[in-house]
Amino acid sequence: MEAKYVIVFSALLFSLIIVGETATTGNWELLKESIGISAMHTQLLPNDRVVMFDRTDFGQSKISLPEEKCRKLADGRIDCSAHSVELNLLNQDVRPLTVLTDTWCSSGALAPDGMLIQSGGSNTGERAVRTFQPCADCDWMENQKGLVVPRWYASNQILPNGKFIVVGGRGQFSYEFIPKSSLPSDFKVFALPFLRETRDAVENNLYPFTHLSTDGNLFIFANTKSILFDYINNRVVRNDYPVMPGGVSRNYPSTGSSVLLPLKLGSIHGTSSAAPDAEVFICGGAPPTSYITAIKGTFLPAAKSCGRLMITAEQPQWVMEEMPIERVMGDMLLLPTGDVLIINGAKKGAAGWYLGREPVLNPVLYQPESSKYEIMEPSKIPRMYHSTAVLITDGRVLVGGSNPNKNYNFTEQFPTELSVEVFSPPYLSSGPRPQISWAKPETELSYKQPISIGFTTKKNGESPLFDKFFKKKSHQRNGELENVSVTLVAPSFNTHSFSMNQRMMVLEINQVRQLSSRTYVIDCFSPPTPNIAPPGYYLLFVVHSGIPSLGRWVHIS
Ligand SMILES: *[C@@H]1O[C@H](CO)[C@@H](O)[C@H](O)[C@H]1NC(C)=O
Ligand SMILES: *[C@@H]1O[C@H](CO)[C@@H](O)[C@H](O)[C@H]1NC(C)=O
Repeated sequence: MEAKYVIVFSALLFSLIIVGETATTGNWELLKESIGISAMHTQLLPNDRVVMFDRTDFGQSKISLPEEKCRKLADGRIDCSAHSVELNLLNQDVRPLTVLTDTWCSSGALAPDGMLIQSGGSNTGERAVRTFQPCADCDWMENQKGLVVPRWYASNQILPNGKFIVVGGRGQFSYEFIPKSSLPSDFKVFALPFLRETRDAVENNLYPFTHLSTDGNLFIFANTKSILFDYINNRVVRNDYPVMPGGVSRNYPSTGSSVLLPLKLGSIHGTSSAAPDAEVFICGGAPPTSYITAIKGTFLPAAKSCGRLMITAEQPQWVMEEMPIERVMGDMLLLPTGDVLIINGAKKGAAGWYLGREPVLNPVLYQPESSKYEIMEPSKIPRMYHSTAVLITDGRVLVGGSNPNKNYNFTEQFPTELSVEVFSPPYLSSGPRPQISWAKPETELSYKQPISIGFTTKKNGESPLFDKFFKKKSHQRNGELENVSVTLVAPSFNTHSFSMNQRMMVLEINQVRQLSSRTYVIDCFSPPTPNIAPPGYYLLFVVHSGIPSLGRWVHIS
């Protein structure tokens, strides 16, 4: 071959490899043009189906109730349409479900057995507790008196004992526990003055951010302030957390979002009883007056700021950072890699009907280790008030909803959205994924238990071509594979920019053994206590060089 051809050929080959190697900034795919309803509340179930619902009092959706049922609304109108559906991720089938009480701005969580337990709402649903068993043809069961008091815009959190605390709601400065058993404490309403004290200019701090800390107490954040709370003894354990700087409100209607950053577990080979540090990360929101001024037609810029607070530190301090784009009504999602995706929302205005402007179409990817923010590919569909996003089993993000209107309206400036999309983070285009071939135990885990996982990986995610031509050294040392981790992610309940029960653990690794050139076994430990990982279903991922495997459902009890 002549030299110039060699050069051209090498350049071509090199660019091919570069293209193969270069991570994109993610990509979007329209999964369904319509699911018949607007995904205002979304939950992934352990059978890889996603339950979504909007509200039952705002007109006819585009999908009929099962068995052609109809019902009479309070104002006498007849509604034969469904307001909840199940989307099967394996074949994209949509099945209408029967939810009759009003689920508008309600809350929920997955129970330890995988049942979706969902509470509150408005009107006929204000005291409802609804359950949905994951199975091929199951439907909602509703108990209209499942809560002691009405709860509209409350937050639910699973507790180490497997029950849920339901915190707040409009005009409710209190909490209670569900599901009700025969315990007298289940029928009590406990005062929580913190919620009364943290209301802002518009007297709101709805959907408070709740995170179970690693000592079993509940961290509660509302607008700018936070406490650590012992819900068993109705006692504030810590009120020395500083006010979040910046003068921004972070809860509804100045809606920002919040996550508990990945919990890094133990280092004493499964025997550690010391609780890992817990750090909360809050982004976006709007000035406290944003809602009032938006009603009058002035749409204030949303907040660019984010803050990190180590809630287990002796002297916690907010570390403030800035996103590249301001955002109100954004969702924050923990990805299997431990990065945080900030997605959906608007640049101006507030949560509430007709109050958001300038949709933010670009998600932002945040790396907690480096505090790096990176702008991702934009969607074409505005996802403003009443939109949702959840991580799904294959590591993509399901995005749906958006309805800033009083009813279903497809001609408004920001129409009611019935579509669902999926966003693929850059890790899905940066090389071959590790593949889990087996796990021991297979799915049923207990606490502090050794787990072995067999997997294959293409070294450092490189293409075989790259290996062959460049003979790049793999990242191995003494036969051990570097840059590999095992993560557990809890499937969260997403509504109003907050993913309730979102939680991720980075498991403690004992060793990584090489079996053959691309086959490895990783020995690790399950989480040590229910304070760190409440009982229930989790998605397990093996992550190698920033690329996650497909998620594998495991159950901890
Ligand atoms: C939908 O919105 C448009 C534009 O604001 C309005 O003219 C129309 O009456 C609305 N339709 C319904 C059914 O509310
Ligand atoms: C580890 O993975 C990251 C991607 O998450 C990559 O940038 C880095 O180069 C890797 N390091 C090693 C030693 O493989």
